Amino acid sequence: MPLDHSALLSDAARKRPKSVIRELLVMEKRPGMISMLAGKPNPEGFPFSSITMDIKLTGQSEPVKLTMDSDLLNESLQYSLTPGINALLDAYARIIARVHGRTIDDGSAAGDFALSSGVGSQDLITKAFGVVLNPGETVLTEAPLYTGVLPSLTALEANVVGVDTDKEGLSARALEAKLASWKTDPATASLPFPKILYTVPAGSNPAGTTASVERKREVLAIVRRYGILLFEDDPYYYLAFDGLGEDPVSRPRIPSYFALEREGDDYGYVIRFESLSKIISAGLRLGFVYGPRTIVRTIDVVTASTNLHPSGISQAATATLLDYWGVDGFLRHVDSVSAMYKERRDMFASYAEKHLGSGGGQQPLAKWVLPVAGMFFWFKLHLPPTENAPEGDSSDLMLKKAADGGVLLVPGAAFFPTPGPVPYARASFSLIEPADVDEGLRRLRAVIEEAWHSAGYDSIPPI
Ligand SMILES: Cc1ncc(COP(=O)(O)O)c(C=O)c1O
Repeated sequence: MPLDHSALLSDAARKRPKSVIRELLVMEKRPGMISMLAGKPNPEGFPFSSITMDIKLTGQSEPVKLTMDSDLLNESLQYSLTPGINALLDAYARIIARVHGRTIDDGSAAGDFALSSGVGSQDLITKAFGVVLNPGETVLTEAPLYTGVLPSLTALEANVVGVDTDKEGLSARALEAKLASWKTDPATASLPFPKILYTVPAGSNPAGTTASVERKREVLAIVRRYGILLFEDDPYYYLAFDGLGEDPVSRPRIPSYFALEREGDDYGYVIRFESLSKIISAGLRLGFVYGPRTIVRTIDVVTASTNLHPSGISQAATATLLDYWGVDGFLRHVDSVSAMYKERRDMFASYAEKHLGSGGGQQPLAKWVLPVAGMFFWFKLHLPPTENAPEGDSSDLMLKKAADGGVLLVPGAAFFPTPGPVPYARASFSLIEPADVDEGLRRLRAVIEEAWHSAGYDSIPPI
């Protein structure tokens, strides 16, 4: 049954008036139009006359010089359209068409979606929650979840209900069980039925897990059956390690939820968020949202009265780059970035095995799932039990003892919708050099051993 997206909008989103100026702005492009609309600054006052970028290319020692097209430069220096500059959106739509098999407005049901840019995907995710959730409404998330969404969900007074995860991330079985027993389980019976399921399917932050295509099919079938919107937050999609080394242009990749919607007739369940932060630059602050028109256009209404649009220069620089690369070049680039992360993952994994696993012939002090995408290891530390934490609590250990011992990891509790003691910790392998990984994990081991000794254990029980 198709979702009624208008009925899913929050009261705040319905109440927010559209910006008259921004609505009319699109018409400025009509041939012959004389516009006295926007309070646009006169570009004669802008000091930029051209922008040239030196671009590093994989396998080439000399950078390539790319000069922004002058019309594009002029457009980017001025206030521009809310969803983004057309050159950027067109280039990104070509990537979406190739990678996810759906072409905007191609006349098919699969092409009936909208695309907008934002100041990083964080901007768009936050706005998207706001356009759907009323105070007191419910969002389901994998637990652990990306902690960056919790502040906005808390501010929106949403009920955040966690769904258990396994080595592939969000568990379809746990999701089905949660939804099937929603009205009878005392933990959920008094809460409104969820409107949104939020998930990070590849290289999950923090758990490092990646959903297989089978898992995604199961989850998609469930959200379709229960009429829930699926927020697919996928900044690590292109940092997936399986299949690297094959031809980046033609090799298969795990299909996104958005792509999988094509397997079936009912579209409009998946809203997909992508980010350029991990694959081109975090400082560009560019991300994309695409999915049901009503939701994406309502996000635009929020943008039109908040930050107007992402930086024009960032958009134009990216459009110039994407045009130069073409989709093939983009795919080659992302695979080269991914290969760099894979090397780091392997290096980090060998030191994790050495210090926390049984690699050095010693007693293992942590368990983890080897990440096949992204930039995180999620350790389940072997910690002494406490009165209210039978598996131990990493918070105190990370915030005080590990920090005093000269190593920093994020305590796992930060990533759970319901606060409580957990034995987990997140480590990022994106930047850290081998000698520091070696020493840092040695220190972590020493801190865990010390925790057992101060808890009165002469020897540490087996994991
Ligand atoms: C899962 C997840 N979603 C969204 C973001 C935000 O990314 P962006 O830089 O595009 O705002 C991050 C950043 O780390 C992330 O890990």
